[in-house]
Amino acid sequence: MKKNVLSILDVGEEIEDIIDLAITLKQDAKAGKQIQHLQGKTLAMIFERQSTRTRVSFEVGMTRLGGHAIFISGAEMGIGTRESPQDVALVLSRYVDVIMYRAINEKSLQELAAHATVPVINGLDRNEHPCQILADLMTIKEKKGRLQDLNFVFIGDGNDNLTHSYMLGCSLVGMNTTVIAPKQYWPTAHYHRTAKEIASAQNHAVVITEELNAVANADVVATDTWVSLWYEKERQQRLRDLQNYTITKDVMKNAKPDAIFLHCMPIYYGQEVTKDVAYGPQSVIIDEAENRMWAQMALLVKVVR
Ligand code: CP
Ligand code: NVA
Repeated sequence: MKKNVLSILDVGEEIEDIIDLAITLKQDAKAGKQIQHLQGKTLAMIFERQSTRTRVSFEVGMTRLGGHAIFISGAEMGIGTRESPQDVALVLSRYVDVIMYRAINEKSLQELAAHATVPVINGLDRNEHPCQILADLMTIKEKKGRLQDLNFVFIGDGNDNLTHSYMLGCSLVGMNTTVIAPKQYWPTAHYHRTAKEIASAQNHAVVITEELNAVANADVVATDTWVSLWYEKERQQRLRDLQNYTITKDVMKNAKPDAIFLHCMPIYYGQEVTKDVAYGPQSVIIDEAENRMWAQMALLVKVVR
């Protein structure tokens, strides 16, 4: 079976199984148990953008599973300049068992995935970051003991890859989602409608608002950079537009007292969050970063084995 994971929706109903497998793999590995489920398998990792977590967590994760990962920089491969996504997909599929691609142009990812005969995983594109959301949901489940009925609140750029995947992923696992952002940074109708359909089928809500006090009742508070790569030209405008949406200690005080704070990293301190929150008692960002590895290992086991 070939299973591409370009959107968090592609894991569908298996989402909580993957999260549970990730938690088990982590516990088993820490207990010294055998977890080499992908012996002899190879992962190709194509990066057209910088990375710390995605690159290292995928590579180490594959090694821990008994497999092997190959790093390929975008410049080295030249997808769309030296060679088409189709040709790269067909050739790589004869060498490796799975491909992870962090593409600048989402059309290259879609074309590569359409032609590969092995599974293709989105390592972050303009639209989504499915691997991050798996790790974040795993972290929430570890910290809270469940996902069902929790209130997830995102504050910041509401129309970016992370927000889209959060809205869809949290709705899939039965959480309520609130996105707090200035109106011009609200998610597009497509993501809002899709998340709402999934959430309302399970009697959960997706709320989009400009009001910071909607953070009340949050079990989880999350944010991300205000300036993702694709919006670099709008940097100054974005810093102005979003300046009242910094997550400070005062904002966290309005959430539930036991709320946790998530950030996918890298962090721009003083913009989307202050350092005292990011390194404060409610923050779980380093566990979250570690969980990238376990969540991706679970995903790899599901799509490759
Ligand atoms: N969160 C995340 O994807 O980090 P990197 O860009 O460093 O991989
Ligand atoms: N939204 C961010 C995520 C970085 C991991 C970006 O696209 O730059």
